[in-house]
Amino acid sequence: MRNPQMNQSRPSLVAPLHGQLCDPPPIWLMRQAGRYLPEYRALRARAGSFLELCYTPDLATEITLQPVRRYGMDGAIVFSDILVVPDALGSEVSFVEGVGPKLTPLGDDAAVGQLSMARLAEHLTPVYDAVRSIRAALPVSTALIGFAGAPWTLAAYMLEGEGSKEFLRARTFALRHPDTFGRLLDLLTEAVVAHLSAQIEAGAAVVQLFDSWAGVLPEPQFEAWCLRPAGRIVAALKDAHPEVPVIVFPRGAGAKYAGYVLGVGPAGVSLDTSVPLAWARDTLGDVCLQGNLDPATLVVGGSTMRREVGRILATMAGRRFIFNLGHGVLPETDPDNVAELIEMVRTPRAEADGA
Ligand code: CP3
Repeated sequence: MRNPQMNQSRPSLVAPLHGQLCDPPPIWLMRQAGRYLPEYRALRARAGSFLELCYTPDLATEITLQPVRRYGMDGAIVFSDILVVPDALGSEVSFVEGVGPKLTPLGDDAAVGQLSMARLAEHLTPVYDAVRSIRAALPVSTALIGFAGAPWTLAAYMLEGEGSKEFLRARTFALRHPDTFGRLLDLLTEAVVAHLSAQIEAGAAVVQLFDSWAGVLPEPQFEAWCLRPAGRIVAALKDAHPEVPVIVFPRGAGAKYAGYVLGVGPAGVSLDTSVPLAWARDTLGDVCLQGNLDPATLVVGGSTMRREVGRILATMAGRRFIFNLGHGVLPETDPDNVAELIEMVRTPRAEADGA
């Protein structure tokens, strides 16, 4: 069955998440909207700040549509950021040009106690308005993907106050103050369920949970701070919205991917660039896999990219699969390479092999 998108009103992206084998696999890219696109840079230069883009529904809609217009991916991810949730809870967030996110770091129990769900829905209304307007503007066959950061990754930014390679301040705070940290994780779990549910109610057909910093934790903390909250989030969403698949992304989890998938029970799992594909295919059970082309390969393009794409498609043949990168599109990427990638993934295998 080639290209289910041709004769189905259901977007092809959700088919493999619901148990259907698709050849060729559907494709979308993490960070498919962003700085590698000249039309994004033009709009970004006119807006006051990155967060203004996120909180202005017309701008967020336009940016979400930019890559879909150019390339016709099977999925469109809402243009927003994981840090809108901490912002809505009261950890004021800003993005410093050329540096990255800055938050007032949570220093003690009192600071955690001041965070509140009370204004979350109101603060994030522009995101839900954007979801509605994107859904109305997208082709029926393009799935709209909502997303949120996972509790550990959000807590890591809130405690650290900025990005970091190791998140040492966040990890030591969590180990020293388990009760306070536990309250923070519980609050974030509740906030993430509310934020994902609201995106689903506004029109998202799939949601993805980004645990970008799962890879800095040893096994016991990974289980308590990543696996357990993700399990609660997936269970709550299955209860409220059983028809909407959840894709989880515990980036850097390595061998811990196996227990995570088993314990969390998602419809799909996104693999980072370091995960051996044949291992994932043979070990991760009855779940849809997504990934895992190295974004650097997409920067380089040409025969290097074609070789890697061929390897991934060959390894995943016969497996429920969504083609994606192992992390976000890099700003250095040539937009023409993205067009070539999509064409290559959609070319039947026999033809691509010259048969
Ligand atoms: O197209 C899409 O994927 C949708 C939009 C999206 C953004 N951020 C837009 C963005 C998504 C899904 C995210 C998720 C996100 N944000 C994550 C999880 C995924 C990952 O990368 O691990 C994380 C950790 C963040 C936090 C964040 N936002 C950082 C660390 C930065 C600065 C680094 C950078 O790339 O500039 C951002 C800013 C950000 N988020 C930009 C975009 C397009 C760049 C802002 C700009 O235009 O200057």
